[in-house]
Amino acid sequence: MATSKLFSCLLVQSMLLLLVLDAANAELKVGFYSKACPNAEKIVKEVMDQVMSVAPSLSGPLLRMHFHDCFVRGCDGSVLLNDTVNLPEKIATPNLSLRGFTTIDRVKAALEKACPGIVSCSDTLALVARDVVVAMGGPGYDVETGRRDGNVSNAFETRGNLLPGTANFTELKSLWQAKGLDVKDLVALSGGHTLGTSHCSSFSDRLYNFSGTGRADPSMDPNYVARLKLKCKPNDNTTLAELDPGSVRTFDGQYFTLVAKRRGLLTSDAALLVDSESKAYVLQFTTKGSTFFKDFGDSMVKMGRIGVLTGNSGSIRKVCYKNN
Ligand SMILES: *[C@@H]1O[C@H](CO)[C@@H](O)[C@H](O)[C@H]1NC(C)=O
Ligand SMILES: *[C@@H]1O[C@H](CO)[C@@H](O)[C@H](O)[C@H]1NC(C)=O
Ligand SMILES: *[C@@H]1O[C@H](CO)[C@@H](O)[C@H](O)[C@H]1NC(C)=O
Ligand SMILES: *[C@@H]1O[C@H](CO)[C@@H](O)[C@H](O)[C@H]1NC(C)=O
Ligand SMILES: *[C@@H]1O[C@H](CO)[C@@H](O)[C@H](O)[C@H]1NC(C)=O
Ligand SMILES: *[C@@H]1O[C@H](CO)[C@@H](O)[C@H](O)[C@H]1NC(C)=O
Repeated sequence: MATSKLFSCLLVQSMLLLLVLDAANAELKVGFYSKACPNAEKIVKEVMDQVMSVAPSLSGPLLRMHFHDCFVRGCDGSVLLNDTVNLPEKIATPNLSLRGFTTIDRVKAALEKACPGIVSCSDTLALVARDVVVAMGGPGYDVETGRRDGNVSNAFETRGNLLPGTANFTELKSLWQAKGLDVKDLVALSGGHTLGTSHCSSFSDRLYNFSGTGRADPSMDPNYVARLKLKCKPNDNTTLAELDPGSVRTFDGQYFTLVAKRRGLLTSDAALLVDSESKAYVLQFTTKGSTFFKDFGDSMVKMGRIGVLTGNSGSIRKVCYKNN
């Protein structure tokens, strides 16, 4: 009796929780534009296939842009805005290696031509991120749409909502938890580092002066340290190093093999081996037939729900860098 009462109580609670979660996501759904702009997803894909065929090096930055958008103020397109009141998030660009704003403008212009004022900038970022992944050989996944755009962008809000490459596991886990994401999401989405590059300055302490010791980070493969030192001299702020050398233009699970071999480039990559739970995911994702592709898609969808504006909140910006 007591057991079944407890059970039904739990059941009611979880049904309430489901209702609450459902209300929050009521207006995010796959195919949100199927009536108002039936070709929206096709238009994004066409532009992106073209861009990726000539500028594949934009793949990492464009994927990262959706991540940045979602972690700062929720997925509301704020990363794209030139705020005229605050210093916009874009000002933090040199620190965050964001590139590809003109690509987003181009995609959005094509959408506006077909369906004026219908597709949000935040959804454009989410669709672009998926199409970049697909164009580079990664998994296709259904993108939920129906986000609306915010009207504020503030560079100071990047602090505490985005972490530098020097972040350790504790910092990573707690930030991701605060965003409603778990260790599995952290590891799966770190797999996005299969695309893209990092400035030498983001990890040169690991090569030359780890924690002020005057030596290299002992958690990095010494042969890899030696190789990276040839590329990155001390105080080099301009050279870029590939996060997944050898397959930087292919979306694959090779990144995890490197991390497992103690060849993660950033402290935040190496940190995935520090914790037993995250290490287990890293190792699982290195195996043949791993669930990395499916898990990556699932985690992207989950990330795409962070702090979204839906329904009558926010607006649909016609031009992504300014309010209407
Ligand atoms: C928006 O900001 C970016 C960089 O912050 C700048 O390059 C661009 O010219 C701005 N665009 C407009 C239309 O103000
Ligand atoms: C960018 O990094 C530099 C050096 O770490 C820092 O002084 C600056 O405040 C950062 N900019 C933003 C907008 O966070
Ligand atoms: C931004 O949107 C909020 C809520 O809709 C509104 O109160 C505010 O006035 C807007 N701010 C600007 C600068 O447009
Ligand atoms: C992680 O970094 C934070 C901030 O720098 C520091 O306070 C903490 O001690 C570090 N944790 C570990 C386990 O190194
Ligand atoms: C290494 O870092 C420590 C602490 O920041 C500093 O005192 C020392 O001068 C650095 N050594 C080198 C070789 O840069
Ligand atoms: C790199 O940036 C640091 C800190 O901003 C600066 O002290 C250093 O002179 C720069 N190095 C080069 C080669 O520009």
